[in-house]
Amino acid sequence: MSAQPPAPLDPEAYWMPFTANRRYKRDPVLFDAAEGMYYQRPDGGKVLDGIAGLWCVNAGHRRPEIVQAIAHCAHQLDYAPSFQMGHPLAFQFAEALCAQAPGDLSRVFFSNSGSEAVDTALKIALGYHKARGQGQRVRLIGRERSYHGVGFGGLSVSGIGGHRKNFGNLLPYVDYLPHTYDRSQMAYTHGQPAWGAHLADELERIVALHDASTIAAVIVEPVAGSTGVLVPPQGYLQRLREICDKHGILLIFDEVICAFGRLGAAYASERFGVQPDILTCAKGLTNGAIPMGATLVREAVYQAYMDAPEGAIEFSHGYTYSGHPVACAAGLATLAIHQREGLAQRARELEPYWEDAAHALRGLPGVVDIRNIGLLAAVELEPLPGQAGKRGYAVHQACLAKGSLIRSSGDAMLLSPPLVVDKPQIDQLFSTLAEVLQGA
Ligand SMILES: Cc1ncc(COP(=O)(O)O)c(C=O)c1O
Repeated sequence: MSAQPPAPLDPEAYWMPFTANRRYKRDPVLFDAAEGMYYQRPDGGKVLDGIAGLWCVNAGHRRPEIVQAIAHCAHQLDYAPSFQMGHPLAFQFAEALCAQAPGDLSRVFFSNSGSEAVDTALKIALGYHKARGQGQRVRLIGRERSYHGVGFGGLSVSGIGGHRKNFGNLLPYVDYLPHTYDRSQMAYTHGQPAWGAHLADELERIVALHDASTIAAVIVEPVAGSTGVLVPPQGYLQRLREICDKHGILLIFDEVICAFGRLGAAYASERFGVQPDILTCAKGLTNGAIPMGATLVREAVYQAYMDAPEGAIEFSHGYTYSGHPVACAAGLATLAIHQREGLAQRARELEPYWEDAAHALRGLPGVVDIRNIGLLAAVELEPLPGQAGKRGYAVHQACLAKGSLIRSSGDAMLLSPPLVVDKPQIDQLFSTLAEVLQGA
């Protein structure tokens, strides 16, 4: 007896995130399987994954160790509460994560996404100052063009106007550093631009305006990812660190994209040699297989909370699924893969090849800048007159039709493949993009 063909999908009920729903639903693109570096379409066609899903599948798709860890855990312990209770996997994963975290980031708070990891970090920063008798430090400093998720906290410190403009006033007492991108100074830089460290001094201007005694924390993505891979100028993050130290301001690195090998080091903090007080991560944490976020803090930040009276909840915050057992199992299996396969080191070794392949697109029609670091790259295109983003989307679609998934953010083409990518696959990604730009 022949199997019934599957009923055609009705795409209407699902309100899709960050998607032009009507456009998408006229011509839905689906992936229904994945393995290694590839997605598979329902018709069996393969697509080379140039963006690691959504910057998260750093160890490649459907790793058997992670799949087995998830299945094993789900069979044994489907869920356990983490408010006033515990289960071994959460403690094991916390210990393993902190053991390989930069400097004295020795404590971790679990959540379910990058947005939650950021909201958690902001609340930890505010509560830290309150616990130390400086409750007037309520101001948060973000940066233009940054992306810190979509919770009201993270959105409030984010600097992408289009994400914010329809949602009211957001949090009060927020100010913004300028972004670090100036094409006239840094177009086609390989790695970190030499120009721009002085932009960190804008923090002194903000301090002078509001007074340091009102400022709790500065939050930045070490490399601004979603906005189009803005690599920090040489010395910029060091300068931010110095100014924060001088004024008793906490420095938060949002490493939701940067962590877990993406920049050729386990963390951006290691790559740039700058220690944050709080570090958020999410995407690579479970290799994208299960939602999870994490907020790591330095020992002194945690200890500031521990003066609360005995029996008091020191930090009134948490999620039903904080430290979910299945996510912890996936996280432990992911960390083991990273350690065993040295994925950060692999990314670092591939970086020169990646860089050359990216910059080989210089001079192609429409290209106005190329930026790279680790296994991240952006190829920025000149927008079509009066139609920002249209060209980027068309190029993304054309690459997909040729079997390569390359993301567009406005008119910047973004590449961030799984770290298991090999040289021929790097060639394929950039040559597909080149062919599309040449109209081939
Ligand atoms: C730097 C950064 N922070 C936070 C987030 C939000 O993460 P999520 O989408 O998991 O909430 C993202 C997502 O792209 C991100 O890139």
